[in-house]
Amino acid sequence: MRCDNLYLWFLTDPDSPRYVGRLRLVDAGKGVSLQYGADWLASGCPLSEDLLLVDIEQLPRCNGMAVGAVDDARPDRWGERVIQHLDKPARLSIMEYLFYAGDDRFGALGVSTSDKVYIPGTRSPLPRLAHAQQLSEIVHKVSAKEPVNDIERKMLAAGGSFGGAKPKALIDIAGEQWIIKFFNNEPVDVPLIEHASMTLAKLAGINVAQTQVVPLVGEHALAVRRYDRSGGLRIHCISAGTALRAQTVAGQEPELGYPSLAQLLRRAGVADQGVNLLDMQELFHRMVFNILIDNTDDHEKNHALLVVEPTRQGRYRLAPAYDVLTTNSGQGYQEFIVGTAQRESTLANAMSQCHLFGYTAAQAAAVVVRVIKVVDGWRKHFAGCGVSAADLESLTERIDGDPLRSQRQTFNPAAYATTVRTRRRSPFAD
Ligand SMILES: Nc1ncnc2c1ncn2[C@@H]1O[C@H](COP(=O)(O)OP(=O)(O)OP(=O)(O)O)[C@@H](O)[C@H]1O
Ligand SMILES: [Mg+2]
Repeated sequence: MRCDNLYLWFLTDPDSPRYVGRLRLVDAGKGVSLQYGADWLASGCPLSEDLLLVDIEQLPRCNGMAVGAVDDARPDRWGERVIQHLDKPARLSIMEYLFYAGDDRFGALGVSTSDKVYIPGTRSPLPRLAHAQQLSEIVHKVSAKEPVNDIERKMLAAGGSFGGAKPKALIDIAGEQWIIKFFNNEPVDVPLIEHASMTLAKLAGINVAQTQVVPLVGEHALAVRRYDRSGGLRIHCISAGTALRAQTVAGQEPELGYPSLAQLLRRAGVADQGVNLLDMQELFHRMVFNILIDNTDDHEKNHALLVVEPTRQGRYRLAPAYDVLTTNSGQGYQEFIVGTAQRESTLANAMSQCHLFGYTAAQAAAVVVRVIKVVDGWRKHFAGCGVSAADLESLTERIDGDPLRSQRQTFNPAAYATTVRTRRRSPFAD
């Protein structure tokens, strides 16, 4: 299928798809634009802050991307690999990837060949948990570029096109959609370590997506419950990168980092009952936790925002944390900006702009102390999750290696205690 025009739909209630507008291949096939349809202009909502409800063709800000929130509806790396494996055309355009991502893609957007009726690229029942072993074998075939038979193609086509780098698929667990992430021949048992890290984050008070270890023959897989589904409904979601780009003036580089995301939540989050403040503070917890467990892979697609009541006020909430795991890199810098020392993985850097997360220095320091306490117990927790002695040793080199352990040991909350202001004596006092 080659096409220069496709049609975007809004599927928060998948039983009543709403037509949004026309997608067009632009920039010599390297980008995708959006022009809202009349109905959407009259009663829809901006899909992201850079896609205002105006009757013009809206162009992507750079090559290789679809415009605004539409970019989050396309698969990246792993998803593209699956689509290429199944459909094998020499070179697919962004538009074709958008189409082949199918009905179960991330968030609530859908792509159809028609502006009258929503006809997705693929739509078939998801494999169930009982098929996890078979699914793992199929996914390994894709990784190894080996051919798949017709039955395997069908299983893969149903929800096989999610993004991210690691091999994954969608499965049905008790009527709900979960993402299943497979072992990828890493030197350590990554699925089990991801489960251990996510549950440790939960102990640290962080709101994480629910995870479940799936034992397979000779390896583990990790199932992560989708946060962009709620019963039969879908939640419009955008990645942190899309949200931060949307608020950046064209031609300027977006500031991809925790402090900017916190400020975005402050401005565009749910102000009712201070929910936005709670989200800003939650982000601070995640940043500190990621630094301390050596999760340096905290890039712009590893944070997401849920759009609450999109067609009414369209405010953002921080999605539950996902893809949180010890990356075992020890690289010493994060992918997302932390503070005044940019990406440096230090608690001092995390504390440097704590006021942008709605904390006083003393409050932020108390959070750091709480997270340190939980991370101090990482080894016991990971062992309890079944992480092997050899893997624990390997992770110890990082989490308990000098740069991170010494930061846990030397963090001094007293240094951040609020200075008590002494009242100036009135010049008129006697
Ligand atoms: N629980 C979830 N619910 C909904 N969408 C999710 C969930 N977990 C992940 N995603 C989406 O799927 C994408 C890939 O997932 P994830 O980040 O876990 O994969 P990964 O291969 O480990 O990624 P990376 O390339 O960052 O290592 C995410 O960027 C996000 O858009
Ligand atoms: Mg990821």
